[in-house]
Amino acid sequence: MAGTILVLNGPNLNLLGEREPAIYGTATLADIEARCRAEAAAQGCTLEFRQTNAEHEMVAWIQAARTGHAGIVINPAAFSYAGYPVLDALKLVDCPVIEVHLSNIHRRDEAWRKNSIITQAVTAIVSGLGADGYVLAVRHLASR
Ligand code: DQA
Repeated sequence: MAGTILVLNGPNLNLLGEREPAIYGTATLADIEARCRAEAAAQGCTLEFRQTNAEHEMVAWIQAARTGHAGIVINPAAFSYAGYPVLDALKLVDCPVIEVHLSNIHRRDEAWRKNSIITQAVTAIVSGLGADGYVLAVRHLASR
């Protein structure tokens, strides 16, 4: 739908709240969705919010959104590191895409976490602001 912001979440983000809270915080994905919906409503935009653990589903969602959307916010989670089908799908979309990570991936202990392959296909990246990163991304896309 034109004017709609799509917020996409990758694997294991369904377990936010109980998943490594020292890194990812205590907010659940439902909490983050509520904050995104409130921000979109305040800006007069519609918003769709989804999560999947399946790469083919993420690819299908991105393909379906390749035209007619106001923007996409994506936390690719572990698809950031080997999700080449997700990367190729993002290259098809004609709206701005903001990559969001709750944690600062450049400050994480594991070297492999620092380099998201997805970043080369997105407009901007927000990493390390927790749930605020989602809200800021929605606000930016809504204001364009
Ligand atoms: C994450 C960071 C990734 O390294 C990790 O695989 C995730 C979550 C984040 O939001 O900080 O699943 O994308």
